[in-house]
Amino acid sequence: MNQITVISPDAAEKADVASNARKVFIKTYGCQMNVYDSNRMSDALASEGYVPTEEMGEADLILLNTCHIREKAADKVYSALGRLRDMKRTRAEHGRELMIGVTGCVAQAEGEEILRRAPAVDVVVGPQTYHRLPQALARARQGERVVETDYAVEDKFEHLPKVDKARARSRGVTSFLTVQEGCDKFCTFCVVPYTRGSEVSRSVSQIIDEAMRLVDSGVREITLLGQNVNAWRGESPKGGEWGLGELLYRLAEIPGLARLRYTTSHPRDMDDCLIEAHRDLRALMPYLHLPVQAGSDRILKAMNRRHTGAEYLRLIERIRAARADIAMSGDFIVGFPGETDQDFEDTLKIVEDVKYASAYSFKYSTRPGTPGAELGSQVDEAVKTERLERLQALLLRQQQEFAEGCVGKTIDLLLEKPGRMPGQLIGRSPWLQSVNVDAKESQIGDIIQVRITGTGPNSLFAERAGA
Ligand code: 5AD
Ligand code: SF4
Repeated sequence: MNQITVISPDAAEKADVASNARKVFIKTYGCQMNVYDSNRMSDALASEGYVPTEEMGEADLILLNTCHIREKAADKVYSALGRLRDMKRTRAEHGRELMIGVTGCVAQAEGEEILRRAPAVDVVVGPQTYHRLPQALARARQGERVVETDYAVEDKFEHLPKVDKARARSRGVTSFLTVQEGCDKFCTFCVVPYTRGSEVSRSVSQIIDEAMRLVDSGVREITLLGQNVNAWRGESPKGGEWGLGELLYRLAEIPGLARLRYTTSHPRDMDDCLIEAHRDLRALMPYLHLPVQAGSDRILKAMNRRHTGAEYLRLIERIRAARADIAMSGDFIVGFPGETDQDFEDTLKIVEDVKYASAYSFKYSTRPGTPGAELGSQVDEAVKTERLERLQALLLRQQQEFAEGCVGKTIDLLLEKPGRMPGQLIGRSPWLQSVNVDAKESQIGDIIQVRITGTGPNSLFAERAGA
């Protein structure tokens, strides 16, 4: 049946405004925090008349929201900027403007250097200053090339528009919410303390307000974000200090908020209250990303992780005692300077002991300015490659074993989005796996009971429980 759309004068006017509106395309690299930041930048630009586009070709403004964590991540940005220079030139030949901005961690780390290396770039804005992006663009339109990377003294969240409900709704039933930024841990391999600065926590009231807006717009699951999320500290509404555990108890009271997650945590900041929250809160999903990075105590010390392998294992035991079905996830680095074959075997050993449901693993990448870069005894690239392959084979096996262990179980599934096949939706299991199930699009946002029937390469299959 044909659908007839009646456009009211108001809607027609809006459509017209939209077709004339400037369009922004944001390419997001790196972690979930950058995904969150890209959304907030898009919101801030909406009040300047920009509408988001998924088509780079039709954008008037292209923003690269960048990651600096490993060398390759930064290289990708420079090669993308090379391609954008050509695009800008072609546009200019046709008399159409294209503005280009670099935001995020490469912007913070490289600043002016980006303007030097990439002549097509108009604005460079760091993660602490993206609330100033509209003004930076206005200045750039006057012909200035703008770098805004000073750590802002003001709280950027106070200066950003509140999360827009209609936009939040269009982004789906799960959402990120940044509660903490920066890091004071200074692991010797990591640039984050330099790019994102020292630890800053958002206030309880800001977080609750944003969570409620998200829930009002149909969000069912919120993932709290922070580079070091469990270092979050805030003032409780009744005075006294809250940690992340207390915050989770409070957020779990919000009606309609069905699921909570948080990432990324440091083992040193898993306090008793947070562990108890895993025991007590139905809404807190049984999944924990708790990077250990390496298994050898010598390497952990050189990395300045401030815990041993045994302490990490004991911590996981305590967490599992509180919540037996918790799925563990981690990050690993192979080939940190000085890592011997035996050290690497210790990493494999700790993986064998923990049994991860999922994990991310990387070759050590030297980051200028970090203490790791100053160390002699850098590990040969070929050795890193071989170690990474062995580690990833083990982690993949564990991930598959975990998935296969789910077959036959009846679980709660949050229906998130249309699947690849008509009549199918993709949902999330409590353990963050993608699950395919037959369901109607109108059910997106519902939590239904399904029975896991099988596993695929990156997802599970399920049928309605009782079907
Ligand atoms: N080299 C390789 N991996 C790194 N990570 C952080 N810094 C580096 C680096 N210099 C990894 C860590 C961290 C994840 C986000 O990225 O495992 O937990
Ligand atoms: Fe990349 Fe880390 Fe910055 Fe996230 S915080 S964008 S992972 S460098």
